[in-house]
Amino acid sequence: MKEKILSLLRSEEQYKSGEEISALLGVSRTAVWKAIQQLRKEGYLIDAITNKGYLLRQEPDILSDESVKAALMRFDLSDWIQAVEVTESCDSTNWMARRAAIQNAPHRSLFISGEQTAGRGRMGRTWFSEPGLNLTFSLLFRPRLLPQELNCSTLFAGLCTAMALNQCITRQKESMNGMPIGIKWPNDLVCAQSGKKIGGILIETILEENRVEALIVGIGINLNAESFPEMLKDKASSVLTEFGCRLRRVDVLGQILSVMKTFAPEFIYRDHWMNLYRSHCLTLNRPVRILTQNGQEEIGLAVDIHENGELIVMNRSGEKQTVSSGEVSVRGLLGYFE
Ligand code: BTN
Repeated sequence: MKEKILSLLRSEEQYKSGEEISALLGVSRTAVWKAIQQLRKEGYLIDAITNKGYLLRQEPDILSDESVKAALMRFDLSDWIQAVEVTESCDSTNWMARRAAIQNAPHRSLFISGEQTAGRGRMGRTWFSEPGLNLTFSLLFRPRLLPQELNCSTLFAGLCTAMALNQCITRQKESMNGMPIGIKWPNDLVCAQSGKKIGGILIETILEENRVEALIVGIGINLNAESFPEMLKDKASSVLTEFGCRLRRVDVLGQILSVMKTFAPEFIYRDHWMNLYRSHCLTLNRPVRILTQNGQEEIGLAVDIHENGELIVMNRSGEKQTVSSGEVSVRGLLGYFE
């Protein structure tokens, strides 16, 4: 019955009277009132006004099948996302997606977990995320594109995530304008002011000969964590720590997917979104230190992003070179971080 009351309240922007709810569900008004009390104990913020009824103001940060599906509905994504798997704990949502890809999971499947026991980052690193407080999810796409046409997916996913996070933050903190979160090339999500890393994206592809079987986009965002392991605390932070706002995981998830849905048709037209990426990229016009594969270090100025996603760096003698992968750390006003 609590679930039924919740879905009634979710579908209503105005107050819904206890009388109407009890008639619709065929239960007494006292039973409705008791269920509302129970929901409040579970963290739901429900206003009650005599003669008007009940209004659902805020839901608790619960990650469940129901809360994820309710968010997909709210953001008009129920058709766009074709399969959903929610777990309390898993090894890595990218592994979940990979296993499901082999089992023929459809295009635009979502895998989300409250905890990862073996979260993975780029360059073979591990991804640490405080269980229950942060967002960790993966999307499985079945793009009808060639591998080389996907080389910008890293930047694209970074841009969509940064834009969505900024929308969530500025909506909750109206005093905050500008761009709270920017992108450190290629797709680290970084607090523009402190330079600390808030989130990251791990993209993996499954190839069959020269065909893309699956593209897995794994996104990790530190939302409400307040403490970090010793070795990370100078470099990593969370939305709550940096901006003082507590965002619900399913709301941020919905916002990210919604931005992706809007921009997806433009993905192949790079010139449409690349300028937006450039305006979010904190690496541009800053000195960068490139750590090459053979361990050498080069210093230059990041001057542009190539249409193919590579970073264009100008060295001390004024020559330009492109960097496609390898390590780039930004230095300058933002301090050092990598
Ligand atoms: C990075 O910045 O190094 C990328 C971090 C990506 C972390 C996310 S969390 C969800 C998904 N599952 C993983 O194991 N990794 C990605």
